[in-house]
Amino acid sequence: MTYREELPYDEGLDNTISFLKEGYLYITNRRERFNRDMFKTRILGGKQVICMAGKEAAEVFYDNDKFKRHGAAPNRVLNILFGQDGVQTLDGKAHEHRKTMFMNLMTKDSLQEIADLVDEEWMKVLPEWEKQEHIVLYQEVKKILTVAICRWTGVPTDNKDMDKLSEQLADMFESAEKIGPRHMKGKHARDKIEAWIETLIAAIRSGESIAPEHTPLYQIAMHCDLEGKLLTKHTATVEVLNLLRPTVAISVYIALSALALHDFPQEKAKLKSEGDTYRKMFVQEIRRYYPFFPVAPAIVKEDFLRGGHDFKEGTLVLLDLYGNNHHPDLWESPKEFMQERFKHWDKSPFDLIPQGGGEYITGHRCAGEWLTIEVMKRCIDLMVNKMEYTVPKQDLSLSMNQMPSVPQSGFVISDVNQV
Ligand code: HEM
Repeated sequence: MTYREELPYDEGLDNTISFLKEGYLYITNRRERFNRDMFKTRILGGKQVICMAGKEAAEVFYDNDKFKRHGAAPNRVLNILFGQDGVQTLDGKAHEHRKTMFMNLMTKDSLQEIADLVDEEWMKVLPEWEKQEHIVLYQEVKKILTVAICRWTGVPTDNKDMDKLSEQLADMFESAEKIGPRHMKGKHARDKIEAWIETLIAAIRSGESIAPEHTPLYQIAMHCDLEGKLLTKHTATVEVLNLLRPTVAISVYIALSALALHDFPQEKAKLKSEGDTYRKMFVQEIRRYYPFFPVAPAIVKEDFLRGGHDFKEGTLVLLDLYGNNHHPDLWESPKEFMQERFKHWDKSPFDLIPQGGGEYITGHRCAGEWLTIEVMKRCIDLMVNKMEYTVPKQDLSLSMNQMPSVPQSGFVISDVNQV
């Protein structure tokens, strides 16, 4: 007879408030309480949801025969963070085709190019930082990344207020899960930027030479779907924003890297003397250790049985990304910052999953993961080898229920000097 058992159940008609209050730890707390990697709860207006973590759970979650993405992300996330009809909402061949467009942009040369652009923009503003009493690193890096990613994608920014643009791009990832006016600020920012990018898509399609053919802006504007039709102007815009917005969000990881350099000064010394391999290990540990996205959502495609549990068609399932990065079965001393753990890491696509797991083209793993790693490595090199600074007393605490979680102060530095 087939083995079946009831999943533990987090009592309550709607646990959204606990989910928001406990944030990154909501699933972990219950997994520990139930002593199980899988449980049921009700959130988002009483909807029944399965939460799960662990390597095996990630393997199932990224099995395209079992799960689909269309309809999985809540509208408030789509309206601000992802945009409607982007690659995140596609499944099957349509997803694979669109995702290939993204992954074709991530060549070795283009990754080198974005890192060089970030370096160039950082070195341009460094003399300004030297003159100031202090700067808020998180805010400043957002601006650097905005300029760099616009240059990389070929988005023309003549006469554009770049500080404002940086603020608007950040509003999209800083306010997606907020409520009230803060949420509306994110929506307003997306509406404004979408209207602007749509004019650029239209200009390219009408033959104006505003961006060279090799640029991501041009490639997306002229990309055709499986039926050979251009994407709608709006969908092309959403995909351009799928490059701009998350690249600016790397500023979160840079602020967290600065925090790690401050909290673990012995690591800073090692980073100074060691080369690229060590820097990559440090980057991986930053992405594992600190919170960013709490979960990834998907919907059961058709009934299947797994681990004694019936997954019913249409059920929403959340994979605990933060939980996998801290799972005691997957990591030794998961609560400690130890980049050496990556010396002998087997590169499993299902344990280190801050940017999703599984495959890139056939699955929903983050299209910008390599870009993120390259940009982080370069920024860490800049902070460790190209400048000196002091870290004045400030509130460096991290919230476990705010997304994204950056040091409360934004990481203030003073006495900046180029070396
Ligand atoms: C700032 C750090 C970043 C984090 C923490 C992050 C995280 C994620 C996560 C969790 C997913 C969803 C995975 C899933 O659904 O299974 C995702 C998807 C995606 N990310 Fe990122 N990301 C980052 C940076 C980037 C960058 C720099 C880009 C582009 C340049 C990018 C583009 C995308 C795209 C297009 C998708 C959708 C992929 C798909 O649905 O197939 N991300 N990211």
